[in-house]
Amino acid sequence: MANIDNKIEEIRKSLNIEIANCSDSREFENIKIKYLGKKGFITDLMAQIKNFSLEEKKEFGPKLNEFKKQTEESINLAKEILIKKEINAKIIKKQNFDVSLYQPNHLIGHKHPYSQFIEEIENIFISMGFDLFDGPEVESDFFNFTALNIPENHPARDMYDTFWLNKKNMLLRTHTSPIQIRAMQNKSLPIAGIAIGRTFRHEAVDASHDFAFMQCEGMVIDKNITLSHLFAIAKKFLQTLFDKKDLDIRIRPGFFPFVEPGVEIDMRCPFCKSGCSVCKQSTWVEVFPGGLIHPNVLKYGGIDSEKYSGFAFGFGLTRLAMLKYGINDIRHFYSGKLKFLEQF
Ligand code: DAH
Repeated sequence: MANIDNKIEEIRKSLNIEIANCSDSREFENIKIKYLGKKGFITDLMAQIKNFSLEEKKEFGPKLNEFKKQTEESINLAKEILIKKEINAKIIKKQNFDVSLYQPNHLIGHKHPYSQFIEEIENIFISMGFDLFDGPEVESDFFNFTALNIPENHPARDMYDTFWLNKKNMLLRTHTSPIQIRAMQNKSLPIAGIAIGRTFRHEAVDASHDFAFMQCEGMVIDKNITLSHLFAIAKKFLQTLFDKKDLDIRIRPGFFPFVEPGVEIDMRCPFCKSGCSVCKQSTWVEVFPGGLIHPNVLKYGGIDSEKYSGFAFGFGLTRLAMLKYGINDIRHFYSGKLKFLEQF
């Protein structure tokens, strides 16, 4: 019957090895079945008892029972220890979980190209000592026309296809020039400022026109301000905007009722030397009008035109942005199309 003892030892050894090698607590169920299940090694061994003599039964019965109990206990104990280990490992994994490592694959937004462009323009003028002015989009006839030397029935009113409002004498401003008058009335002299804002005209929308568009108005008023101040500022502004130190400008006469004399400023085409599609083969690009503020306008603004003079200029932002970025359709700016926006 030493045979049984050997068998027990053999089973114990193989059980110990299996327990030691077990790395997943769920595996213990299988081990249990393998040793203690209906057809398990130990169950098998115990089934042999019925063939033993009484003596043998007395000796091996308790031995096998004890062995069965020990096996059960050691499997349970090992399982408990492993479960604890697994829980600890999970806790440590959680503690070491670095949320900042999680990088979802999403697009990072940025400022709209138009906002970037507006900031760029503002910064150039701020760097030259200008302030930023503002004014309302809903204006009165007085600020939009009369005070700018465009009285009622003046033919210059025809230049502007105006959105008139139901309220008498009220309109959507057709240009940013009314801010000149508001600045003269509200700021103390000397004045140097620009105002960027939306303006409105009753126009059909196409690749280069929109009924709402952005303009930039600029003005400087002080003693002894002359046209050369305007030319110098315009030149410096365009050189900085197009990042060309030697960008030249030229002046042609122009007419706007609120300036006298009035001028049209052109710049050398920043994109070519001998003619291209942007400058229509002329090497010059029309950029903006301006002039010396008309004495009548200064008067409406409450400024003594005998003592003070000033220059003003105004331009459409969209055209300049289209020029700078080589965009051929004004509507891209409002389309919200990512393909367009992502390029900036
Ligand atoms: N306000 C004019 C327009 O929208 C542009 C303009 C021309 C503004 C000459 C000025 C200026 O300040 O001096 O058509």
